[in-house]
Amino acid sequence: MCGIIGYKGDKNAIDIVFQGIKRLEYRGYDSWGIATVDDQGMQIAKTVGRIQSVPEALEGVDSTIAISHSRWATHGGVTQENAHPHTSCDGGIAIVHNGIIENHKELRRELESKGHTFKSECDSEVIAHLIEEEQGRGFEEAVRHAALKLKGSYAFLAISKDSPLLIGVRHESPLVIGFKDGETFVASDVPAFLEHTNKVMFLDDGEMVVTNSEVKVISTSTGEKVEKETRTVDWDITQATKGNYAHFMLKEIHEQPVELLHTLMQDKKKLEQVARRVHQAPRVCIIACGTSRHASLVGRYVISEISGKYCEVYNASEFQYFVDKLGKDTLIIAVSQSGETADVLGPVRMCKEKGCKVISLVNVVGSSLDRESDVTLHLNCGPEISVASTKAFTAQVTMFYLLAYTMGYAYEDGYNRLREIPLHIDYTIKNTEPAIRALADKLKDKESAYYIARGENFAVATEGALKMKEISYVHAEGMPAGELKHGTLALIEKGTPVIVICPKDQTYGETLANASEAKARGAFIIGISDENNELFDAWLEIPNVDYLFYPLLANIPCQLLAYYTAVAKGTDVDKPRNLAKSVTVK
Ligand code: AGP
Repeated sequence: MCGIIGYKGDKNAIDIVFQGIKRLEYRGYDSWGIATVDDQGMQIAKTVGRIQSVPEALEGVDSTIAISHSRWATHGGVTQENAHPHTSCDGGIAIVHNGIIENHKELRRELESKGHTFKSECDSEVIAHLIEEEQGRGFEEAVRHAALKLKGSYAFLAISKDSPLLIGVRHESPLVIGFKDGETFVASDVPAFLEHTNKVMFLDDGEMVVTNSEVKVISTSTGEKVEKETRTVDWDITQATKGNYAHFMLKEIHEQPVELLHTLMQDKKKLEQVARRVHQAPRVCIIACGTSRHASLVGRYVISEISGKYCEVYNASEFQYFVDKLGKDTLIIAVSQSGETADVLGPVRMCKEKGCKVISLVNVVGSSLDRESDVTLHLNCGPEISVASTKAFTAQVTMFYLLAYTMGYAYEDGYNRLREIPLHIDYTIKNTEPAIRALADKLKDKESAYYIARGENFAVATEGALKMKEISYVHAEGMPAGELKHGTLALIEKGTPVIVICPKDQTYGETLANASEAKARGAFIIGISDENNELFDAWLEIPNVDYLFYPLLANIPCQLLAYYTAVAKGTDVDKPRNLAKSVTVK
């Protein structure tokens, strides 16, 4: 959704929040802005478009407090007026906000009736005017009372020309505090300030951070101090930078062999505890969105194959319509890289209210889902910055394999088999990247591409299609190979690319037969397999492995195909249009 960062300390606040908001740009990149207070009062600069450089109006401004925002539009078009920061009528209060204020219309009417004039159509602007309305209470209490009037999801930061305080308020949108002697950072996500400190504190819903020289956390409802623990994040800044890669996505694709080994570093006792819970639960529902759901489809398959336990997989955004049918003995497994996806958090909270236990597979430590689950298995694959999820998919699938083997009382066997996979992934990347670069020129001008597979590889077909469409804007559809002839075959014309995922497992023969049906209609067949075939117009070779592990390998050429097609098309690979890395609104 949106990225926000605030700074209060003894350094140049504008430089710090500018560098910080650039590291959060993956969260939203329609427009951006900075607000700061210097001896002249409140200074604000904001603009539509990507973050390029410190705005001219703020160059040379010397200040030790500032807030900044990068926007993913939800309410109101992509315009300068709707860009954050937003200010009070007198311009003396500035706020930046991530989330949705559901009652913004009625609040706006009420404030306008009291004489407030609004400059934008953005829901967030009401926050600045609410604080202004309450400012007779002093800035801290004004912010707190304003927050109590809000309904919806929000993480917002506020500063005032008449106060030295930087204040942050959190409700259902992430907010994390970074600590360094004499300096305080408050942001949506850790990468915003990781180059300065890895000492962090995660705010919970209903909490506010108030910082001047000291930092205190209070309850939004009561104003009482709240004791919180400080944690150390074991990421370093190089993991949150591109290094020598052209894009984060390519870096994260290439990191997969190493990060898979990090994912394998799990607490065995915790895994065994989770395995027991999954085995004993009368009903197991896995819920996730997008790539995480595709990983869950593989997970369901391997859990069933290895341990015999059947699990259901749901689109998290649809699951809320089934919750009232569940008993409290249903076990929920929530899968999310960010741990902040609203479509996942919503049903998780509904299920917890029913008494269901929640186990989660999450990458971002300290995220909402991490902290609201009964047990969390951390993916440990480092920060994933590119909007297109790649290494997190591999980490999630790996975690499911490890869990499945643990459920099958074969943890050591599973661990040892999985330790071999990084070499195969590395081989696949090196072996297919040159051919894929050439193929990308063929695909970049296509209107559509179709991905077909069977069995557990079907999930890879859907995942490959998602990668292709979300970063190259080539429409793509993944489906069971057997489904093609039930309608979609009508769309196959001469030269239509059909990516056929057909490793030499039990699905090989039937999948090839479906590929042949497409070929007979003129399709351009790209075969992902450990064996070449005359049907293939292009062969992307993957190593021959135990059939269960093909999804981890077949997905690699799909990631690369999407990446190089997007590069050939010239789209913004890491920040594709209309999307955001973490979708924190429903
Ligand atoms: C994947 O490439 C997409 N960016 C998107 O589908 C993503 O997987 C989905 O929004 C879920 O995100 P999460 O894993 O952080 O919950």
